[in-house]
Amino acid sequence: MDEQALYQMTYGLYVVCAAHGGEKSGCVVNTLQQVTAQPVKLAVTVNKENYTTELIGRAKRFAAVALDQRADLLQIGRFGFRTGRDFDKFEGIETGKDQSGIPYPTGCACAFYSCRLMDTVDLGTHLMFIGEVEQAERLSEEPPLTYAYYRTVIKGKTPKNAPSYHEGQ
Ligand SMILES: Cc1cc2nc3c(=O)[nH]c(=O)nc-3n(C[C@H](O)[C@H](O)[C@H](O)COP(=O)(O)O)c2cc1C
Repeated sequence: MDEQALYQMTYGLYVVCAAHGGEKSGCVVNTLQQVTAQPVKLAVTVNKENYTTELIGRAKRFAAVALDQRADLLQIGRFGFRTGRDFDKFEGIETGKDQSGIPYPTGCACAFYSCRLMDTVDLGTHLMFIGEVEQAERLSEEPPLTYAYYRTVIKGKTPKNAPSYHEGQ
């Protein structure tokens, strides 16, 4: 398999968030996408080991923000390289809350979505959650952060839990 072919795929970068029973987390993903228009549904693929995955399964809901180009390695590191199991990722940063109380970061995000979980597909290492959008809002006029911009301009890396991880990246 020519792995260079996989590098030709394009993505945005998002933080998907969940909360249940007083616990909360959120993780960076490049796998959020709109999959239907009527009704509007989003799909996201998250690693079974992620704390966010556990919370989405328990709450049957998730929220997400589209990161914009103000996001830097510090902010991406908070949500993309550390787990929320032992650390409150929302403490000390600007946040909003969706109608069900799920917190989400607002400081470097251009849009927000809140979804009710409709289906879960087991992909082995990852679960794909499919949710119906109940709230959506523009948060800034900044351009959305693409995965290509993250890799080439911000010079960011991809951790093992991301589906797009490749050895020797
Ligand atoms: C650029 C980037 C893309 C990522 N994409 C995904 C993804 O699509 N799915 C996933 O499960 N993890 C992805 N990750 C890894 C998670 O964000 C990371 O494992 C996170 O620390 C999990 O946090 P949690 O345990 O609090 O849920 C990505 C990380 C980065 C930096």
